[in-house]
Amino acid sequence: MTADPRLPQSSDAPGLRAAFSAPMADDIAKFVASVETDRHLLEADLRGSLAHVAMLEAVGVLTAEQATRLRHGLERIRAEGLDLDPAYEDVHMNVERRLEDLIGADARLLHTARSRNDQVALDLRLYVRDCEARLRLALAELTTALVDQAEAYADVVLPGYTHVQRAQPVSLAHVLLAYHAALTRDLERLRQPFISPLGAGALAGTAVPIDPRRTAQELGADGVFSNALDAVTDRDFAVNFVFAGALLAVHLSQLAETLILWCSQEFNFIHLPDELTTGSSLMPQKKNPDCLELVRGRAGQCIGELVNLLTTLKGLPVGYNRDLQETKPPVVRVGETVLASVNVCALAIRQMTVHREVMRQAASDEKLYATDLVERLVAQGVPFRTAYTIIGNLVRRGVPFSQVPADEWATLGLRVMPETFTPEQSIAGRTSHGGTSPARITDQIAAARAARREDLS
Ligand code: ARG
Repeated sequence: MTADPRLPQSSDAPGLRAAFSAPMADDIAKFVASVETDRHLLEADLRGSLAHVAMLEAVGVLTAEQATRLRHGLERIRAEGLDLDPAYEDVHMNVERRLEDLIGADARLLHTARSRNDQVALDLRLYVRDCEARLRLALAELTTALVDQAEAYADVVLPGYTHVQRAQPVSLAHVLLAYHAALTRDLERLRQPFISPLGAGALAGTAVPIDPRRTAQELGADGVFSNALDAVTDRDFAVNFVFAGALLAVHLSQLAETLILWCSQEFNFIHLPDELTTGSSLMPQKKNPDCLELVRGRAGQCIGELVNLLTTLKGLPVGYNRDLQETKPPVVRVGETVLASVNVCALAIRQMTVHREVMRQAASDEKLYATDLVERLVAQGVPFRTAYTIIGNLVRRGVPFSQVPADEWATLGLRVMPETFTPEQSIAGRTSHGGTSPARITDQIAAARAARREDLS
């Protein structure tokens, strides 16, 4: 390659300091670099550049030969991977420099009609779209595991809790399907329209006759930006994603907490496989649910990242500001953290051993049938609050329901058999919409399966 006579003989710095007379000090170069996070954006950056090249060729800014050389170079970087050097600040400049190593002077055409401002906005959007897809896939596995287990353990009963106090008997399926409902909302939140910002330039568009709609189409976007200044500063998609991830992390944390309680010796409702537990360095008998504790613990980081992101955005004046570089780590950290947590929860749900007899025993506590008795009185026409007081008085007397004489029940108009006080009987009665009766659980399972099939089609 012959040197371009218009270029200085020895450029002092990588790429961006044409107008500068001094190189950047090493520690300052490190300070401003974002290569640590940008590792995750390499694929997105290459995809964006390939779309940009296709558009520049289509509008006649690049010749077919130039475009082909650029494509080959970019594809080669994709195939070989690239270690990002902090001296070149970010993924964009690292790719540009590597491209010049590979294909020579044509690499200098790549940035035509593009700024790193629209480029980075695009990269982050592409990363988010990809991460949403990966998360939806992982979540689909977790929600399917919940439905499978709900079906497999359809006849298992346990106390339902409020305030961690036994409340009313429910089926295990009812509890699993409650988490399924929350996680299905998370799955829906992990979809947002993809608006391409590429072609916005630094802030004001460009005099080069480009076609941003074409680039958007090339990238499979749902739309293209409407205002160049907004396009480079808009991080709403990142906030949406981090919020969706943080709320998902909160739900996973709640699920983890329930399983942690259930596998304690005090509850002993489930057993977790050895793969998901760790030992103590001191107490040989210990098997601790550390994986689930980390799912619970890491939800805090995700919440923190949401606050981090919003705080970074809140004081920005109009136009690109370098603070926006700091919107990348929260997105990547939440994405990667939550994905790993979803996978751990799916394993736990699939592999837990259910102690059905222990659960049933706990649900056989007679006090759990107090509400059923109230509802039977209500069915006889007794006003609810009166019925509540009558049964409350019986509870206060401390006589177990099964030992209240039949004629006392009779004065209340009730016929009470020994089998009245079984969890199965109690559950069977709660047939209202979304309730825990077997019929309603069957409905919920069928609806969950149908929604999944629709999602796949
Ligand atoms: N390294 C920057 C980032 O990751 C790229 C955009 C820089 N733009 C600028 N005008 N300095 O966000």
